[in-house]
Amino acid sequence: MTHSMTDNYGRVIDYLRISVTDRCNLRCVYCMPEEGVPFLPHDDILRYEEIVRIVRIAADLGIHTIRLTGGEPLVRKGIVDLVGMLAAIEDIESVNMTTNGTLLAPMAEELARAGLKRMNISLDSLHAERYAAITRRGNLNDALAGIEAARDAGLCPVKINMVVMGGINDEEVIDFARRSRSHGWHVRFIEVQPLGDQADYAWRQYVSSDAIRRTIEDTLGALTLAEIASKGPSRTWRLPGAEGTIGFISAISHNFCAQCNRLRLTSDGRLVPCLLSDIEFDLRAPLRHGANDDVLRGIFLQAVAAKPRSHHLHQHTTTRHQMSRIGG
Ligand code: 5AD
Ligand code: SF4
Repeated sequence: MTHSMTDNYGRVIDYLRISVTDRCNLRCVYCMPEEGVPFLPHDDILRYEEIVRIVRIAADLGIHTIRLTGGEPLVRKGIVDLVGMLAAIEDIESVNMTTNGTLLAPMAEELARAGLKRMNISLDSLHAERYAAITRRGNLNDALAGIEAARDAGLCPVKINMVVMGGINDEEVIDFARRSRSHGWHVRFIEVQPLGDQADYAWRQYVSSDAIRRTIEDTLGALTLAEIASKGPSRTWRLPGAEGTIGFISAISHNFCAQCNRLRLTSDGRLVPCLLSDIEFDLRAPLRHGANDDVLRGIFLQAVAAKPRSHHLHQHTTTRHQMSRIGG
């Protein structure tokens, strides 16, 4: 029999985001400083057997959807095997991934075969030079090839995440929106979030979802409601005649905490109840000191019980979580 977990505010928690590595082949301006961040030593990172054990316990408690993130999940060796092991766990219905896509093209087929369901691909510009500037070392063509390969491999719907930054890439919002028509892309415009070392930077570039939406509607016409997600915070919209959809992730301007259904696991094995608070519960130490399943289950329940009702980002507080450690 499987269980389900409900937090103190009545939210059902059935979704776990797992950061499999804090490393990344890029250095996006809103995520890391130019010189990078000190990476965790190898031994601090959960081994695949450890992740699998945690996910088995989580699945038994009521987690049904997994999303693998990073850093960049595709830089971790053997990631295809991990996808396969997680997809095989009873009661895990969907293993998904968020990636920058630059390493994806040669791997998309095998990821799909291993059981990966859906991909979110981060793409902040359609201009090669700007893409290189924002990511500090990325190649636009690699990311576009990754998007194509994901679609060819049936990893659908491929969602494209664009972090919108004032004066940096916001003039491309229209081009991205148009791609929901011309390429069937499911585009999600993300408000830049002030996290970790890059928080000051993020506040300077902040553009609200309402402003992004106005820009789109002024130029391309009114958006119609496409779908209200049964779970999670998202709602999607559509341009007339478009195959793809448009969404807005507005952590700052529209607090969607009331629909939050998730926990996060960091690459070094801490369970984080909320991205925007500093509370965390260590699973790695007990795991490595021989804790039985009951103890680990207890830590999951503690994390669920510690989920705050909501964050306070609109009051300009920041948190010390580094996006590259926690995986967005
Ligand atoms: N604010 C908003 N989005 C961010 N991402 C990374 N850092 C930030 C930030 N500070 C995005 C990435 C990716 C997803 C995992 O989170 O671009 O799409
Ligand atoms: Fe890497 Fe994603 Fe951070 Fe960019 S935002 S540096 S792709 S982890």
